[in-house]
Amino acid sequence: ERGNYRHFMQKEIFEQPTVVAQTLSSYVRQADQTVALPQMDFDLSSIERMTIVACGTSYYAGMVGKYWIEEFARVPVDIDVASEFRYREPPLPKGGLALFISQSGETADTLAALRYCKAQGQTIAAIVNVPTSTMAREADLLLPIHAGPEIGVASTKAFTCQLAVLAALAAKLAVVKGGMDRAEEQEVVRHLLEAPAALNSALDHDDDIAAMAHLIAPARDVLYLGRGPDYPMAMEGALKLKEISYIHAEGYASGEMKHGPIALIDEHVPVIVIAPSGPLFEKTVSNMQEVRARGGKIVLISDREGLEEAGEGCLATIEMPRVHPLIAPLVYAVPVQLLAYHVALVKGTDVDQPRNLAKSVTVE
Ligand code: M6R
Repeated sequence: ERGNYRHFMQKEIFEQPTVVAQTLSSYVRQADQTVALPQMDFDLSSIERMTIVACGTSYYAGMVGKYWIEEFARVPVDIDVASEFRYREPPLPKGGLALFISQSGETADTLAALRYCKAQGQTIAAIVNVPTSTMAREADLLLPIHAGPEIGVASTKAFTCQLAVLAALAAKLAVVKGGMDRAEEQEVVRHLLEAPAALNSALDHDDDIAAMAHLIAPARDVLYLGRGPDYPMAMEGALKLKEISYIHAEGYASGEMKHGPIALIDEHVPVIVIAPSGPLFEKTVSNMQEVRARGGKIVLISDREGLEEAGEGCLATIEMPRVHPLIAPLVYAVPVQLLAYHVALVKGTDVDQPRNLAKSVTVE
């Protein structure tokens, strides 16, 4: 089943262009360049507030979704990890939409949070990979991701497919709420459809990433920095590294560095900076310079323009294709996944079955 790949995780990373295209094909209508969601028996345009609940990687996808939904649809989004949400028993907005994101559709805490929201009269949407799962059955609106079975314990292709669905949902919400006109919708569709090719170009850098993994493997701690939707990407990168290489890693909002974590910086703590060209680039780069001024060793992940401007003096750089900011989180998922994967290979850990972890956490 692994075919020519050494690990399921590697296979699943490389499947992303195909599965994201598959996912998009059911959320985007090529003919008229519109975003399409499955039939629903409630009025999407009446949604005034949203709540997103998930765990782990699915939670980071949800955080990216929050940036998109708030930016495009101007609908405020609350987001929490399921284990906190369910015991916090938060008051919920009247007529709110609660969205649950889960690869398996069976995660105990996420399911409990879903049932809590249902009992509170929220409309329930679920982004899941397993269409026969409990969450899929209990949701009012099922948004399947079509990633195919994910075997590696570290989630990869489910994440990028979740992002594709979240981008479509954000755009649809914006359209029905009147915040996005036809031309803007077509533009979003066009950028989304560019994602599979961009994912392929990102994968072309596999060898470069493999060649630099030995620079990260000896580290005891690694920091990941990003801003805006790249902040959850920093946390996702850190989670991947922790899970499969057992190196302590943290994802931080770049601007939060100087409020504490900068005290950790020395030449032994590599700092991975996720900074595609775009409106937030300069800000992130200035945070990166603060790290460098303190002797920090930087790995900059950016596109050619970004690397030309800020790549000098870095420990290593990883070049990504130049993409529209909307699809940057999908594309930049690839280098952080590959980096974790190759560091784990250097360390000789069990990539598909990391210690202490289960694929699906069905106990709380
Ligand atoms: O099946 P789910 O998406 O609900 O699972 C959530 C987390 O358990 C999962 O994302 C976990 O964090 C992965 N091991 C991350 O790689």
